[in-house]
Amino acid sequence: MLLENRVAIVTGGAKGMGRGIALMFAQEGCDVVVNALHIEGAEKVAEEVRALGRRALAIKADISSSAEVNDMVDRTIKEFGKIDILVNNAGGVTGVTGGDTETATEEDWDKIININLKGAFLVCMAVIPHMKKQRYGKIINVSSMGAVSPSVSVLHYHSAKAGVLGLTLNLAFELAPLGIYANAIVPGPIETPFWDSLQPPGPERDAFFKALTKKEIPLGRVGTPEDIAGPALFLASGLSDYVTGQIIYVAGGQPLSSHDATFLSSGGRPGG
Ligand SMILES: NC(=O)c1ccc[n+]([C@@H]2O[C@H](COP(=O)([O-])OP(=O)(O)OC[C@H]3O[C@@H](n4cnc5c(N)ncnc54)[C@H](O)[C@@H]3O)[C@@H](O)[C@H]2O)c1
Repeated sequence: MLLENRVAIVTGGAKGMGRGIALMFAQEGCDVVVNALHIEGAEKVAEEVRALGRRALAIKADISSSAEVNDMVDRTIKEFGKIDILVNNAGGVTGVTGGDTETATEEDWDKIININLKGAFLVCMAVIPHMKKQRYGKIINVSSMGAVSPSVSVLHYHSAKAGVLGLTLNLAFELAPLGIYANAIVPGPIETPFWDSLQPPGPERDAFFKALTKKEIPLGRVGTPEDIAGPALFLASGLSDYVTGQIIYVAGGQPLSSHDATFLSSGGRPGG
């Protein structure tokens, strides 16, 4: 198994990609802390991890609060004694609409930057001292294609996700001599509850995804949480022991230049 007796924290692990990552890690022998905003969802995934024969701890914590993050890390150390892997996956645009120069507000900017960028920073700052002690750690940060190739204007979210890439590269530079790795995954469109607040599941969403994939995704489909979990497993395991400071695009071949990618722009919806 690739992660035998490792301990991972997966933020936002109650659903979507975080759940996919938590379960794939558990299948590979990893104990998992499943963090989320709501304890019920985190507890459900923790149960699924236990059913795979691994230990799990569900922790409700808002990653944009340093007090809650510090408490989560303290509880993890108390329960498992170490943290080998951190997946900074929590994020999204829930509760915010728009985000272009006509609609973005200072309030939304603060909210989205706090969840998507400051949150990853806070969890890193709390976890890294423990990784330093053991001179080992694998940090995986989740960004977005919108950070590097926006096909719709969402200033706060895309800026936050671009910031996640800067955070990753700086961490990799500083921490490589200490045996701590930092890499980023940049997902394209992945079908998860992330999309529910933008477009509820149903025929309209199906048609939207179909048109989107036809126009912008050479592999011809939207991604699944497992499509993200595979590369996350690679970055969490010894398979990537000569890989740090890298950005891996997991986007079905979606081109980096969005000049031709006008479909989302015409829809005016955030995402991707
Ligand atoms: N789904 C996509 O198409 C897509 C594309 C690019 C990037 N992303 C990014 O990938 C990551 C995972 O997305 P997903 O699609 O699985 O989303 P999701 O909405 O299905 O799950 C997000 C999880 O994050 C948690 N979360 C949100 N804010 C939090 C906070 N402040 N503190 C703790 N937990 C919090 C939620 O409770 C939930 O468990 C996010 O960072 C998202 O921005 C998603």
